[in-house]
Amino acid sequence: MSSEPALPQHIAIIMDGNGRWAKKRFLPRTVGHVKGAAGVRRIVKACADRDIRYLTLFAFSTENWRRPPEEVSTLMDLFVQYLQKEMADMSSEGVRLRVIGDRSAFPQDLQARIAAAEQATAHNTTLHLTVAANYGGQWDILQAMQKVLVANPNLKPDELTESMLSPHLSMAYAPEPDLFIRTGGEQRVSNFLLWQLAYTELYFTDTLWPDFDVSHLQDAFAWYAQRERRFGRTSAQLTDQTNTM
Ligand code: FPP
Repeated sequence: MSSEPALPQHIAIIMDGNGRWAKKRFLPRTVGHVKGAAGVRRIVKACADRDIRYLTLFAFSTENWRRPPEEVSTLMDLFVQYLQKEMADMSSEGVRLRVIGDRSAFPQDLQARIAAAEQATAHNTTLHLTVAANYGGQWDILQAMQKVLVANPNLKPDELTESMLSPHLSMAYAPEPDLFIRTGGEQRVSNFLLWQLAYTELYFTDTLWPDFDVSHLQDAFAWYAQRERRFGRTSAQLTDQTNTM
């Protein structure tokens, strides 16, 4: 058996704390987001280098439209810039990009760039990078439910099963996250991947997202390696299973 500590296959991150990072330095919140976008590149590379297969980042929630218009616009601009500047490099590292969420509310230019980046990286397999933008976990479950009902208009309530719903969820192409990380000190899931986080290990750190570097990622991996993932079973059952393998 390998003595390497278990690495998560799929990591989902809420990148929180950009605003506070800027405020601590008497800078506008938007500067925090610029710094945060640079952090995205760092963490994507670190994950690709470590053979992590799936990385999912919460960039913009359905609730973030409530922020001041200039902040919303900075976040959109950063996303465009990111797609423009970084995608070629990331693609050469084998990163495949997908965006989940209701993108119809985004400016046309951003929608077109997202589609182009998804298409240009569709053949890559090293790291599946998913950016959740105008995404909400409740929205995701609802849209999946609507698709099931459209496909089965006469469905009776007791005929509806999890396996009918899950193929219509936005991340049907990925295994469920093993490790969830939220930076910035808050301990909540904030309408991120509600369905998919059912058995995910939840890691919270006070580090603000712009300060979150590869050493912090390593800390999260070390914490994850100590977790016992029981998926509803008992510890004794897991030990028995290992011994009979
Ligand atoms: C939360 O910090 C962060 C966001 C709402 C946006 C995250 C966006 C980025 C990291 C940059 C763009 C992303 C990509 C993929 C290029 P906050 O503003 O809520 O911070 P606060 O809690 O300190 O106010």
